[in-house]
Amino acid sequence: MKFFVDTAEISEIRELAETGLLDGVTTNPTLIAKSGRNIAEVIAEICEIVSGPVSAEVAATDYKQMLMEAAVLRRIAKNVTIKVPLTPDGLRACYALSREGIMVNVTLCFSAAQALLAAKAGASFISPFVGRLDDIGQNGMDLIADIVQIYANYPAIKTEVLVASIRNPIHLIEAAKMGADVATIPPAVIKQLYHHPLTDKGLAAFLADWGKTGQSIV
Ligand code: E4P
Repeated sequence: MKFFVDTAEISEIRELAETGLLDGVTTNPTLIAKSGRNIAEVIAEICEIVSGPVSAEVAATDYKQMLMEAAVLRRIAKNVTIKVPLTPDGLRACYALSREGIMVNVTLCFSAAQALLAAKAGASFISPFVGRLDDIGQNGMDLIADIVQIYANYPAIKTEVLVASIRNPIHLIEAAKMGADVATIPPAVIKQLYHHPLTDKGLAAFLADWGKTGQSIV
């Protein structure tokens, strides 16, 4: 499973890149606003740190404008993935861009029918938002199971299932069990993945016993 980080904060991306865990980055207009920076500058900087796909989202809602914005964004770096919303115009833009060999991430997916449309439009990635479905009382993970099953029925579909709006490690583990291709994870959730109380307890006991030996390895 590929791990993307869902942030536009350079310091967080740099720190994670050094762990070797990072396969890509996703941003969205909210994350760019949070960074307080210019989109072109921040995407360029991210692409210098991470060689995998870096999603940069268009802000336009009409097809022609989306293509104009995509042209600007893709000039930033080779690994820029154009992110478009799951709308009729977004999918039309996805089709046009993917036919030119440009990676497209279709975002704001909340149904299996939408995921099927994105695959037919040639999306490289479909982003179903699990946390936001949970927020309205629907089980977000059910959607991932449906999309993984549907895509598996049609080997011609090359679209990768990119699980988005992840809120906790359980979302990630469930997604991995279902065979989702990618998870985009907030930095705070990535940090949670390392921890288990028995690891802390076991390490404390080992260190205490090691101290008793009076030895040192170097
Ligand atoms: C996906 O690419 C989105 O940026 C993201 O996962 C949205 O997550 P949120 O629902 O926590 O805002």
